[in-house]
Amino acid sequence: MTISEWIERSKQYIDRLDAEVILTHCLKANDRSYLVANDDEELPDNIEQLCDTMLASRMRGKPLAYILGYKEFYGRRFIVTPEVLIPRPETEDIIEIAKAAKPKSIIDVGTGSGCIAITLALELPKAEITAVDISDSALSVAQKNAKQLGAKLNFRKSDLLDGVDLPEKPLIIANLPYVDKTWNWLDKNSLRYEPELALYAQKEGLELIYRLIDQINVPCRLLLEADPSQHEQIKNYAKTHGFSFKKAQNFILYFCKTK
Ligand SMILES: C[S@@+](CC[C@H](N)C(=O)[O-])C[C@H]1O[C@@H](n2cnc3c(N)ncnc32)[C@H](O)[C@@H]1O
Repeated sequence: MTISEWIERSKQYIDRLDAEVILTHCLKANDRSYLVANDDEELPDNIEQLCDTMLASRMRGKPLAYILGYKEFYGRRFIVTPEVLIPRPETEDIIEIAKAAKPKSIIDVGTGSGCIAITLALELPKAEITAVDISDSALSVAQKNAKQLGAKLNFRKSDLLDGVDLPEKPLIIANLPYVDKTWNWLDKNSLRYEPELALYAQKEGLELIYRLIDQINVPCRLLLEADPSQHEQIKNYAKTHGFSFKKAQNFILYFCKTK
């Protein structure tokens, strides 16, 4: 079967773009332009079989990032396994705001693949960065990502900030689980491959965010990701815990605490 025949057949079952990405990956080509330039190339049997296996996984609904084993975040490729959340494009707003804040120290709570903490370690090499997660397997993926991307930062296993010594005036970042299992407007089918520990929280999805706010009693800046439908409740909760609201940007809320 040729490259173009494989794409024509596969696009009946999955997005054409996904089919092209699978083929590019299996052929170890640099990018999809290879497929256009070589559309009548015959696929070796072993490559066709590998592509077909990935196609079947995609047809069952497995996210492409888990099939390929990586996902791009802020222009870099992060290893992802089913133990970590797939980094989302909306989380990249955190990077922009954090860079503009020019922090000396950063704590990333619920680091998952490490996409936030590692990106910031590379973008802000002078900042002292600690990545925290409650999951050993997530921390191990994050450590692999730090190694392969050459980022220098600290890792810590902890339940939120329990027992974590906070540096002076840190920037605390948290993209914690915020999905409520009862939300029926959300397509949970697309989330079924991702770890429950990374997605769901009690109390309308706010339990972990509220608990984190409760834990912070030092001057700091705080960047949180949450669904926009939760922003008003979080703003009110943070206000009653001594935080001033600075700004909201898409999924992100930015606060400051002066004492
Ligand atoms: C929504 S994922 C975010 C992952 C990554 N920061 C990102 O933006 O892609 C949430 C992460 O929080 C971690 N987590 C869940 N409960 C936690 C807790 N009590 N303390 C620390 N981390 C927690 C999960 O293991 C998961 O890696």
